[in-house]
Amino acid sequence: MSRDIKVDIARARSSAVTAEHGVTPAELKALAPRVLEAHNALRADRARKRQGFYDLHKDKAMLAAVKKSARGLAAQDCENLVVLGIGGSALGIRTLVTALRPPYYNLLSKDQRGGRPRLFVMDNIDPETFGAMLELCPPEKTLYNVISKSGGTAETLSQFLIALESIEKAVGKSAVKRHVVVTTGPAKAKGRPSPLQHIKSAYGLSGFSVPTNVGGRYSVFSAVGMFPAAVLGIDVDALAAGCRAMDRRVSKASIEDNPAYLRAAVHYSLAERKGKSISVMMPYSDRLRDVPDWYRQLWAESLAKSVPLDGSAPPSCAAQTPLKALGATDQHSQLQLFLEGPNDKVITILEQSAFGRSLKIPNTVRKTAGVGYLQGKTMNRLIASERKATADALRDADRPVIRVTLPRVDEHAIGQLLYMLEVETAMAGRLFNVNAFDQPAVEAIKVFTRRYMGEKA
Ligand code: PA5
Repeated sequence: MSRDIKVDIARARSSAVTAEHGVTPAELKALAPRVLEAHNALRADRARKRQGFYDLHKDKAMLAAVKKSARGLAAQDCENLVVLGIGGSALGIRTLVTALRPPYYNLLSKDQRGGRPRLFVMDNIDPETFGAMLELCPPEKTLYNVISKSGGTAETLSQFLIALESIEKAVGKSAVKRHVVVTTGPAKAKGRPSPLQHIKSAYGLSGFSVPTNVGGRYSVFSAVGMFPAAVLGIDVDALAAGCRAMDRRVSKASIEDNPAYLRAAVHYSLAERKGKSISVMMPYSDRLRDVPDWYRQLWAESLAKSVPLDGSAPPSCAAQTPLKALGATDQHSQLQLFLEGPNDKVITILEQSAFGRSLKIPNTVRKTAGVGYLQGKTMNRLIASERKATADALRDADRPVIRVTLPRVDEHAIGQLLYMLEVETAMAGRLFNVNAFDQPAVEAIKVFTRRYMGEKA
């Protein structure tokens, strides 16, 4: 059986949902020269190492280092891994863990977790949540992985300063290094010294670096995602192998042969020409439920820009709003909107061909009208039927759908999926004529926050 993930745009084509709402063969063909030009520009950026995310899976030294460190940690009595980070420094590991660790992971016993720690991803500064985490995770039994590419993000720094005080109180300054691993960029970023690097040196902490040519939201396959993944027993080599397999497929210039370019071209075309200003991602799988969160940051922060990449043309104002949904749950919530609300969405249905287990719906309750069609069937069949029902209803309502199918949810498939979405976003940036790798508005908020907190200029 093929291990490749599949992208199927049949239900986004005009032949399925009319030319008013779907992409026509002529529209896709007309995009080919632009995609080729963008492909060459992206390849050049990659070759000049301006964008490092493409090659993270080839970084053998990084992979060896995260595995070595994770092995070292396994020898310690570590009950909790707490990731302090936000945005691209948090969403990747959360997505990996939901997909690749058992459901309710933190509630399992240490044995059931294979001796691995529980995971807490702290990506907010709500004092109630953070305070509760501190109470749940005694410093002596906890490893903090502080992740910030810039090293100066207020949310992460404030979390770290609070955690550091509690660790130091509990174990003494000299032992802090046994409880903190720092993943960060260089000592100076954009002319500002990195406070995180300073603290790291002051306490003699170990850590990993985030390459300067890898943006936060493209960093899941750097030590940002790979170190905590390795600590939790996720097979980082298999993730890298999945990236490698997808890298081969997305190295092709032609739209129809390249799943990332195909998705980018369909999204762009439907946004520009058919008014599809919203990109919905709807997995029919709990393991995949955090992928839309990760994709939402990637799509939103990369594509919505007011300044054009190429100044000779305006930026596209059609950059889409990403929206998350979950099947079957959202059939009882947002699906009404998707089916009868404005026809302004392109909907990706994420599916897995096989689940890791099968559950039969028993027929112990007899002679009850209205349950017979469920009894004796599996829950697997029910979720597959609901997914098909949703896809068919969307087609009948002329709503364009792209199906992305994973043969199963494992490291190889997740590596392929996330890598494909990254390359798709890079291509979409070119098509929308925006810089998919900066985030000026996010930076502006960081500056305002520091000012409102009383930082002197
Ligand atoms: O994608 C990005 O660059 C941002 O969303 C960052 O990940 C986020 O702002 C956190 O920044 P940092 O890792 O520098 O703390």
